[in-house]
Amino acid sequence: FAPRHLLSIADLTPTEFSTLLSNASSHKTAIKSGVTPAALAGKLSGKTIALMFSKRSTRTRVSTEAAVTSMGGHPMFLGSGDIQLGVNESLYDTSVVISSMVSAMVARVNAHDEVANLAKHSSVPVINALSADFHPLQTIADFVTIQETFGKEKVQGLKVAWVGDANNVLFDLAIGCLKMGVDIAVAAPAGYEIPAAMKQLILASAPKGSTAKLTETNVPEEAIKGSDILVTDTWISMGQEEESAKRLKAFAGYQITEELARRGGAKDSWRFMHCLPRHSEEVDDEVFYGRRSLVFPEAENRLWAAISALEGFVVNKGNIV
Ligand code: CP
Ligand code: NVA
Repeated sequence: FAPRHLLSIADLTPTEFSTLLSNASSHKTAIKSGVTPAALAGKLSGKTIALMFSKRSTRTRVSTEAAVTSMGGHPMFLGSGDIQLGVNESLYDTSVVISSMVSAMVARVNAHDEVANLAKHSSVPVINALSADFHPLQTIADFVTIQETFGKEKVQGLKVAWVGDANNVLFDLAIGCLKMGVDIAVAAPAGYEIPAAMKQLILASAPKGSTAKLTETNVPEEAIKGSDILVTDTWISMGQEEESAKRLKAFAGYQITEELARRGGAKDSWRFMHCLPRHSEEVDDEVFYGRRSLVFPEAENRLWAAISALEGFVVNKGNIV
């Protein structure tokens, strides 16, 4: 039978997405109080999960390794210097071979096609650990954080303002927002907006009858108006280093500061999120380390998100309950 994969939040129904969030939260509460839920204890015992990373990672690597270990499994980290992931061997061959030996693959790749191809030919579940297009594990952690901060029943109707590069982290976050009834306003400089095909995909992932909106502008203040949460990410994603000078110029005026939020008219109670790693050009220290910042609980929630995703896609084979 064909395994079910997690390549994007778009792969989930709103109910499944909510279930992954509740499972992450309840496992967090239980494990932090010293109880490992029966749904997790030893569930990956004797199983190897391949973590195939073509790019650097702190949070994704540590959270997935720790998540596999917490369920009694063996996380096998395979870095870009270790295996032939798309280099010197086709992804087809790699996928068929590795999936014949392990129980799941968690892969961080360059082009999204790479993880899609791994999934297509794999006999075991594949979880996307970041591609050029999506970062589903980040979005799960982000919504766990939003629910914890605002209260689960108050999430619908919130407004998120994304101020920065329209990138992989944004795309899955926007899909998550539309699935959860959260408005998302995106401010990106001209030339760095959401590509048309991606915008279609994001809009198509909204459930029928959803009133949540995706809006776009080139003016940060416009996106910020009335928002509950300001979010950004690096302006220079991994692999874009050669464009650094050009990008730093294009994003001038996009740094998130108290002053920008005030000028834009964010709600008084606005909070700040960032997937990390962070650079000071996109957000100043006052906001990043200040009382509004959710960045460290958000990073911790990567662990609970990884546990929930492994439970849903590996232990329960895509039956998200
Ligand atoms: N947020 C995130 O994915 O961080 P890493 O690149 O450190 O894994
Ligand atoms: N947009 C960033 C996210 C890193 C977690 C990148 O792709 O490098």
